[in-house]
Amino acid sequence: MVNKEIFLHSRWIESAEVKNRDDVVLYKKNFNINKKPIKAELYITACGIYVAWINGKRISFPLTPGFDSYMHRIPYQKYDVTNVIRYENEIKVSVGRGWFGWYRDEETAYISKRRRVKAVLCLTFFDGTKSCIETDESWSLCENKCISSDIYNGEEYDARKEEVFYANAQVATNELDGRLFEFEGKKIKEHEKIKPVKTVITPAGEFVLDFGQNLTGYIEFSVKAKEGEKLRLSYAETLDAQGNFYNKNYRSAKAQIIYVCKDGCQTYKPLHTFCGFRYVRLEEKPESVDENNFVAISVYSDIKRVGKINSSNPTLNKFINNVIWSQKDNFIDVPIDCPQRDERMGWTGDVQLYCRTAMYNFDCKKFYTRWLNMVKCEQDYYGYVPNVVPDVYGYGQAGFSSAWSDVATVLPWTLYQMYGSKELLKKHYRQMKKHVDVITKTTEKKYLWIGQEHFGDWLNFNDISSDGRRSRKEFISSAYYAYSTKLLILAGETIGRNVSKYKCLYENIVKTFQETFLDYGTQTECVLALVFDLAKDKETVARKLVDLITLNGGNIRTGFIGTPYILHALSLSEQVDFAYDLLLSTKSPSWLYSVGKGATTVWERWEGIDKNGNFAAASLNSFNHYVFGSVIDWIYMVCAGITPKKAGFKEVLISPKPSQKLDWLDVSFNSNSGEIVVKWEKKNNRFNYYIKTPVKAAVVIEGQEIEVNKGEYRFNGKEFNQYEKKII
Ligand code: BGC
Repeated sequence: MVNKEIFLHSRWIESAEVKNRDDVVLYKKNFNINKKPIKAELYITACGIYVAWINGKRISFPLTPGFDSYMHRIPYQKYDVTNVIRYENEIKVSVGRGWFGWYRDEETAYISKRRRVKAVLCLTFFDGTKSCIETDESWSLCENKCISSDIYNGEEYDARKEEVFYANAQVATNELDGRLFEFEGKKIKEHEKIKPVKTVITPAGEFVLDFGQNLTGYIEFSVKAKEGEKLRLSYAETLDAQGNFYNKNYRSAKAQIIYVCKDGCQTYKPLHTFCGFRYVRLEEKPESVDENNFVAISVYSDIKRVGKINSSNPTLNKFINNVIWSQKDNFIDVPIDCPQRDERMGWTGDVQLYCRTAMYNFDCKKFYTRWLNMVKCEQDYYGYVPNVVPDVYGYGQAGFSSAWSDVATVLPWTLYQMYGSKELLKKHYRQMKKHVDVITKTTEKKYLWIGQEHFGDWLNFNDISSDGRRSRKEFISSAYYAYSTKLLILAGETIGRNVSKYKCLYENIVKTFQETFLDYGTQTECVLALVFDLAKDKETVARKLVDLITLNGGNIRTGFIGTPYILHALSLSEQVDFAYDLLLSTKSPSWLYSVGKGATTVWERWEGIDKNGNFAAASLNSFNHYVFGSVIDWIYMVCAGITPKKAGFKEVLISPKPSQKLDWLDVSFNSNSGEIVVKWEKKNNRFNYYIKTPVKAAVVIEGQEIEVNKGEYRFNGKEFNQYEKKII
């Protein structure tokens, strides 16, 4: 909703250029009224992260106004503040550097250093009159207890400081007004609050709190202290093999909180920053500190859980729980890659590879729609989608890798499949088209995608062919060229566009692909050829894939590109049991290996910690990266067999594929059209099934198909046609 009018008479206000990069600026405005309003609404935004209070009560949600493509759009929030308005009032706004400071161009840097803010408080009175308090030069700049704050480095706060006035705010020009829009996503909220499960004195003699769960957010603590006592803490995701605090994998992110106490009891939590962590090292602390007064607050976009999986295998259940946590931890307004190191970016490849699983786990419609709006803004005139959205690095055309920029086609199409909105497809169709067109225009070899910088099968585990090479980058990019073109055709047909040109293009891409790539040497190459429907002789490729896995001791070797699809490739090739083996393997590398190493979230790399307890290179070793968690869409879609027969689950296909490798499976998915439940259980060497569908469903069990209407049903494999009719 665009309601820029509301800001018409308010001004952007700012401080003089901050002295230090991470300084935090405090604005204040006092005003009196002689009658109480029946309604009071605060509209506010800032070029940084703001926290707003009225009469001492915090009004704003965490990390507002949100991470966005600020070069194009600046979101604002609206808060109902009727209950906090008195006759004498004080509005306070603290602005830290936030994500805005990441942009590198001169103009944005100039604005960022001034911590701009814009606000209007609209008061409506009983007699119908209105009055507005707007940001202008009458607002004061005051000393701030929050001295410095940065997303990566953490925050410093001095509770002793007085908020004394030192200058009037300066009025800036209103040139940013054209970018204002009302925040359209899922607001970030505080969720789980977790107490330490353990206090550890490490071999190095350090005092460490263990919260038992890797999460994203911050620490809140209460302490009774003497004035000037200090509390300094650092975050980490893990301890090392010796049990010492380890945060080298945060790279340059200091992730440190420094708090200087006033006299007496006090409570604090960081205001303008967040971090991914499980452990907290207390480096300096008041004598009286009590670890029971520390709590880890988990912070993420307010997405609702819709999918649940439970099985007879506890290790698998733990892994699924880890995937859920990694999703929450990386849904911070934008789908980010990881929440701890000096990165935390909207990497497009990670999004497209994980988005289907994400939508089975949580209702992501609003969350992804907001981010897709940013993709639309960031796609340039020619069609290039940068590898990171928001494009804070200013990558533009330089960052345009296959499988990353293909988010332009994959995300709209997946959103359509899961939620059924043709409007969304229409809105993003042009972007899909531009993406395919720019590949066609810029490739060095017709009908293949050659000549850009591609990441390839990122972080694969030595997925090497018999002649010693890794998955070919031009193989992956050309496969994605075909895939994106196919999705464009499907989207175009759905919304009634003429796609004949793209059908012809698609045929040529597939033909050229088959003529160019005659063999498939790695697991990932086989996977793409099968899942993107590119292999001429699928049976041979499927056999090759099984051989490659077997040759590797029954282990997966794929990286970002192959991993989300490898089990699909196997089940499409009638290798369901083999796929179960891979899913349930605990040997390294495997999905469940990390569980054995104590993981509480999904790792970026297969061997983030190797068998001997050694860490992979700290430069790329996040313990909270969701991409490898994408495997669990296979449990929803194949083990439980829940897929949309019509977009948005208006009709469902339920085709469970059980295996003797599990005793039972229980999956529920609250789809866009209602709750679907699939349970199966092994009994005397055959399977019994329970199915609940909210809409008409085609049920396929052990090769036999039946159509059912909304309802609950029981089946058993042998007597399929004798299914107990509706049980409610
Ligand atoms: C990120 C990834 C990302 C990649 C690009 C990394 O540093 O953490 O998840 O997709 O860069 O290859």
